[in-house]
Amino acid sequence: MDANQIRQKFLDFQVKHGHQVIQPAPLVLEGDPTTLFTGSGMQPLLPYLLGEPHPCGTRLTDSQPSMRLQDIDDVGDPRHTTVFEMLGNWSLGDYFKKEQIHNFFEFLTREVGLDPHKLYVTCFIGNDKYGIPKDTEAAEIWQEVFKEAGIDAKIAEIGSAANGDERGIKDGERIFFYDDHENWWSRGGGCESTPIGDPCGPDSEVFYDFGEDKQDVEKYGKSHPASDGARFMEIGNQVFMQYRRNPDGTFSELEHKNVDFGGGLERITAASIGSFDVFKISLLKPIIDKLEQISGKNYDNNTDEMRIIADHTRGAYLLAAQGLTPSNKTQGYAMRRLIRRAILRALDLGISTNFLSEIVPIIADNYRDLPDNILTHRESALDVLLKEERAFRTTLNKGMKEMLKMAAKQSLSGRDLFKLQDTYGFPLELSVEECYKRGIDMSEHYRAEFDAALKEQRERSQTASKGMFKGGLEDHGEQTIKYHTATHLLLAALQKLISPDIVQKGSNTTSERTRFDFNCDHKLTPEEIRAVEDQVNEWISADLPVVHAEYDKAYARDTLHAHGQFWDKYPEQLTVYTVGDSEKPISCEVCGGPHVEHTGIIGHFKIVKEESSSAGVRRIKAVLE
Ligand code: ALA
Repeated sequence: MDANQIRQKFLDFQVKHGHQVIQPAPLVLEGDPTTLFTGSGMQPLLPYLLGEPHPCGTRLTDSQPSMRLQDIDDVGDPRHTTVFEMLGNWSLGDYFKKEQIHNFFEFLTREVGLDPHKLYVTCFIGNDKYGIPKDTEAAEIWQEVFKEAGIDAKIAEIGSAANGDERGIKDGERIFFYDDHENWWSRGGGCESTPIGDPCGPDSEVFYDFGEDKQDVEKYGKSHPASDGARFMEIGNQVFMQYRRNPDGTFSELEHKNVDFGGGLERITAASIGSFDVFKISLLKPIIDKLEQISGKNYDNNTDEMRIIADHTRGAYLLAAQGLTPSNKTQGYAMRRLIRRAILRALDLGISTNFLSEIVPIIADNYRDLPDNILTHRESALDVLLKEERAFRTTLNKGMKEMLKMAAKQSLSGRDLFKLQDTYGFPLELSVEECYKRGIDMSEHYRAEFDAALKEQRERSQTASKGMFKGGLEDHGEQTIKYHTATHLLLAALQKLISPDIVQKGSNTTSERTRFDFNCDHKLTPEEIRAVEDQVNEWISADLPVVHAEYDKAYARDTLHAHGQFWDKYPEQLTVYTVGDSEKPISCEVCGGPHVEHTGIIGHFKIVKEESSSAGVRRIKAVLE
């Protein structure tokens, strides 16, 4: 069976079990500022999982194209992809654990034809800190299900994955209890990282066993479902979404208990053909075949490069076919990065001419079964990608010319290579490779010299921005704090009313006024100034709460989309301030504070001056009355 057949079989099977097929959402979710891309089937369903009635009822199903850029560095191994399809079914306060576990088991064994002896499952061990009990119910249902298939499945308590690496699997064990890093699901991760207001719950995952010969004990420890080795691959996750995180960090039971099931289409297809390498399935293999043909190289000896190219071009195609274009910000930048990484890896294979024109039509054909309302820009996708490929090659060629010019004069130092990367966008690895290929003389210590130049540049820009980490605050008096919060509201109003691309370019706050610099290509009109003032005053009158919390940098940047100026210099843990409803804040900024606790006490906001600060940067001075 190929992936298109398995997708259809899944949807038909869920319809037979009373589900309605809903249209999947686009990868870029309109009006959802919390994530860059749709990363799971549940994301567009968030309000319904929290209790709002869904127009299609309480049993839903779809196959959701999803993208998880956080996995980008793992692409190259046999199973990770940044883009994948998530087969989903949901019970919105309808059926619960028993029906779900039977449903998925039946799908895997009867419809897909997987051998039940190769299935292993995991359940949640409980969490004392938050008073969440162990999910013995799910484990017992699994025991029953396996028993009906003639398998005596024993239960094991593993706890952490590290413990599993040490302990391994003992005779007959098939059901494993793990902690919340493995068997708790929320959009943020384990219990501690569950976002405030989000639905969440214990989950039960299903793994396919590719055989003991795939375990690599030396590298990964003894094999068990949650180990990193190649023996087990997770193929589906059933989340028993029965909690919601409260603003004080605790968890409450939801009134309606939901099931959120997500199964990896690519991985289930790989299991169905007995391949631990997902790049052998119908949605990916034709791309690999083409790459072998174009490069004249063999997949088995070039797996990493070919997997990365296949994955990234597929992701870039799906984005282009949904109308996204490469750019230097947010989703457009992620798309550009995928294309560039694919082109650089193709260079590693010796493909130095345009090749997307040969790959993209294959990908487009693989996706012929995806609904048109998702792939709204099928026709223009190829052109968008080819244009970007041409532009990047021009950049690379310029860098190459510059390198040859430098090399004609002197042996290349690490500092020269840094300049090529920093000024001409010509990556270090590429320069080094070209130097080897062309017999260009390079300093013996190029790596250390390059690193030193990079460090110096970082220090220079750090010095330049010193003081700004304090939020540009002159003191911490009460009036200054009010101005500080007003400044966050000002930025939010400018982004909302003038342009979403506006970012802070500088700020200075005293007890008498705030001065705020931001990028903008025109002088604000009197009408725009009034609208911004009115918006800020409206938020002040609404007396919105101002709250702050600590987050991982990546989560703050990629999931919360917090506004920040110095991402490359922030520490790994940082504070984010939000104003308004925690689910849909009107302002969300990385900031050290302090701020008022609620906006009502700020006073009346008035812009007293709007002027140019430097090219493309405007400056506003505002007071509180
Ligand atoms: N939402 C769950 C996941 O992404 C099913 O794994």
